[in-house]
Amino acid sequence: MKGLIIYSSRTGRTKKLAEGLYKSLRDWDLSIQDVKENPNLEDYDTIFLGFWAYKGTMDPSLNKVLTQVRGKDVYVFGTLAYYDDSDHAERVLKNAVAAVEKNGGRCIGKFITMGGLDKKRVQEKIQGRNTLKHPLTKASLIRYQLTDDYPTKVDIAYLSEKVKLKLEILKESGGDL
Ligand SMILES: Cc1cc2nc3c(=O)[nH]c(=O)nc-3n(C[C@H](O)[C@H](O)[C@H](O)COP(=O)(O)O)c2cc1C
Repeated sequence: MKGLIIYSSRTGRTKKLAEGLYKSLRDWDLSIQDVKENPNLEDYDTIFLGFWAYKGTMDPSLNKVLTQVRGKDVYVFGTLAYYDDSDHAERVLKNAVAAVEKNGGRCIGKFITMGGLDKKRVQEKIQGRNTLKHPLTKASLIRYQLTDDYPTKVDIAYLSEKVKLKLEILKESGGDL
């Protein structure tokens, strides 16, 4: 396994998750790159694709990377502003997996967790300059405040354990899951 973690992150939450994963997987042959570095996937067989939820799916800055996943194993992981146990989160993840499969990659795992919303956007919502679809409610404001430092250590540890398990199984089985 030669793996590459690629992440896309506007406000740092997906980056935090990606870097946490990278640190936890020191024993594996892994590199990490911001999608802005324009990664070349040629030398890697396993891709860890970190995205933020954008209008119900994977954010479009990963589109170019997706065109390179054919024949590769891909583990998708993402952050979103809504609850990670919601139907919405399930849909976002399903769409992310579909995007990988549409491009000929094999999805070996998926994970999504709460990333909260950046302060600037929350402020815009409070002022009524809301560029996102959903209006601010009392509950959503509380949620944004309480998730300000998300993803948490627990999220990172959970993702890392799940990824390690998959990698061990793939290694021992010769590529089957
Ligand atoms: C244009 C835009 C669209 C978004 N769409 C969604 C969405 O459909 N569902 C959701 O839960 N969060 C959505 N979000 C929130 C982000 O996915 C969330 O804040 C994420 O954790 C940001 O990750 P980052 O810090 O790595 O950029 C959206 C944010 C922006 C700016």
